Formats: sequence, structure tokens, C-alpha cells
Amino acid sequence: MSQKPILRALSGERLPVPPVWMMRQAGRYLPEYRATRAQAGDFLSLCYTPDLAAEVTLQPIRRYAFDAAILFADILLVPQALGADLWFVTGEGPRLSTISDAAGVAALKPVDAIHEVLNPVYETVRILARELPPEVTLIGFAGAPWTVATYMIAGRGTPDQGPAHAMKAADRAAFSALIERITDATIEYLSAQIQAGAEVVKLFDSWAGSLKGQDFDDFALAPAKRIIAAIKGRHPGIPVIAFPREAGPRYAGFARATGADCVALDNSVSAEWAAAEVQKDGCVQGNLDPSLLVTGGAALEAETRRIVQAFSNGPHIFNLGHGITPEADPENVTRMLAAIRG
Ligand code: CP3
Repeated sequence: MSQKPILRALSGERLPVPPVWMMRQAGRYLPEYRATRAQAGDFLSLCYTPDLAAEVTLQPIRRYAFDAAILFADILLVPQALGADLWFVTGEGPRLSTISDAAGVAALKPVDAIHEVLNPVYETVRILARELPPEVTLIGFAGAPWTVATYMIAGRGTPDQGPAHAMKAADRAAFSALIERITDATIEYLSAQIQAGAEVVKLFDSWAGSLKGQDFDDFALAPAKRIIAAIKGRHPGIPVIAFPREAGPRYAGFARATGADCVALDNSVSAEWAAAEVQKDGCVQGNLDPSLLVTGGAALEAETRRIVQAFSNGPHIFNLGHGITPEADPENVTRMLAAIRG
């Protein structure tokens, strides 16, 4: 049995001190990240330069001794590998060429063409597998098909995912074909990350909360289930973390329905509710409000301790409810860790 704390928690073990890492732990709140990003020139060059992507992945491990490192990349590299144009506007976020109909889906590249673009990411994983301290777990990741589709359809982040909902309503078959294409690409992408040395993979469904009823079943649950079954079929023993952000009551049963080993919780659900309704099925990850790492103080320590306590009767990986923000104070991360590790 593995001794790495993250893998122990993912296999269902309750640990006296929960292992911890943070979403976006390699990011702009760290001066060393900003320096390496400046050296790379821009965000996408950083993602596609293996030495620099590995360097920023390692920075938060050196500074905080987190229990996991997450590959530095972005969920939007998959659309780019499928043929979308992708660029980042500083201070605003991602921009992509858009898709609105069946012809747009048909014009995408075949799934087996993705590795041509994504090979540098696999090289980053190989470097990390060599360089990480032995007790640290390496997490690979991809966006879940619905979330990736929302960006491919709108060409940018959207507050309500309106364009994706509109395409789903106008032509459900074309929309489903897009979801299927992304699902197939995601299986190949995650599988290649695992072959390169990723020990766990995580599926980010950041916009899962805007899918309701049957749409949640068809476009959040079903693709996650298909991806997880394929990964587990090809790579037995590799744990999968699913993050259906803002799924609310649909967090309950999500692990059972998809086969995920762990469900990551945003901070809109209470830890006490999730301990009763979600953790009964296995490991949970989360769910500190990232704004507390900006404001700090007694509230940060009290909330950190409350979450640790609420999940203390079962397997738990401490994390945030969403990514750490650029305004966060690196000293507050140290305070959070002290409250967890004592
Ligand atoms: O967690 C990590 O440290 C690993 C790396 C990682 C990044 N993005 C790096 C990044 C991961 C796992 C992601 C996932 C991602 N990317 C998601 C899903 C998780 C979530 O946040 O909901 C989404 C929706 C994206 C798409 C994306 N990438 C957006 C909307 C933005 C702009 C927003 C912003 O924070 O500026 C990005 C850029 C991005 N991805 C940054 C980082 C560190 C900031 C870019 C920079 O350095 O300028």
C-alpha cells in the first residue's frame, strides 16, 4: 500500500491530519510565479515550455510542502489541440474561435491529432515525475466536457454559459457531438498524462452548476462516468477526483454515479452537509472560501479548523472551494497550513 498521504486519503483512509494542496497553487499570488511567467513571455508559452511549466509547478511545493503538485497547464489546451484558435487577453482571460453548429463540430481535428499539440504537456509531467519529492503526489487534469464546450461555443468565459445553453437548445445533436468529441479527446489526454507519470487525475467541471435536471445527467454526469470508466479500464488503480463546481444537492451521489474516488467541493455547500451527504461515499476535497486567503485574520483560522473538524470522521483532502486568487497574501497560506497541521 502506498504511503503517500494523498493516495491514502483517495483510497478511503481517514488520516489524523488531512493532506493538503490548493487549486491554482502555482499562480500570480506568488512572486516566483510572476518572475517565471515574465521569463516565458506569456501564459501559453509558459504552459508549452516544459522546463518552465515544471518550475512553476514545483514552486509552491518548495515554499509550502504541499502534499500534491498539480501539473501546470490549462483546460483550454484541449480545444486548441482540437483546432480552435486560443489566446489570452491580459487582465481579461481566454479568447477562442467559436463553434455554433454541426459544421463547426465537424471541422474539428480528429482526436488522435491532439498529441501533436499536447506533447510538451506530457514532457512537463515526465520532468515532474523525476523531480518531485517522493512523498508528494502528482496530479494531472483536464476540463470536463461541458465546461470546455462552454468556452469553445462562446469563445470566452461567460457568467451564465448562455451561448452553450443556446446551442444545446437549438441543435441538441450537434451539441452532443461536440460533448462526445471533447470526451474522447479528454480520455486520450488524461491517459497520456498517466503514461507520462501522473498518479491521480482531476476533472474540472467549473460550470456544472448551470446544468439542471436531465441536462446535468446528460452533460455533467454521463461524460464524467465515461471518462472515468475508460481511465480505470486502461490504468487500473489510478484515482480520479471530480469537481462538479456548484452542483449543490447534485454533489450527493455524484461519486457513486460516476465512479470518482473523490469529489471536490466548492464553498457554496457547507462542510457539515457534505460530511453527511457526500463523504459517506468516499473521499472529499475542499472547501475553504478562497477569499479568506485575501482577508486572513481570525476568520481564516476559524474556518480552516471548522472544515478540518467537519470532515474529520472520514477521508478528506484539504483544499479551497475554487482557485486561489492573485490578491491572496502568501503569508495567509502559511497561516492556513499551521491551522491544519498544528
Ligand atoms: O491549479 C493549478 O495550479 C494548475 C494549473 C491550472 C490553471 N488553470 C492555470 C492558470 C488549472 C488546473 C487550470 C484550470 C482552469 N483553467 C479552469 C478550471 C478551474 C477553474 O478555475 O474553474 C478554467 C475554467 C480555466 C480557464 C482559464 N484559464 C481562465 C478562465 C483563465 C483566466 C482567469 C484568470 O485567473 O486569469 C485562465 C488563466 C490561468 N490558468 C492562469 C493560471 C495560473 C492565470 C494566467 C496568468 O498567469 O496570467
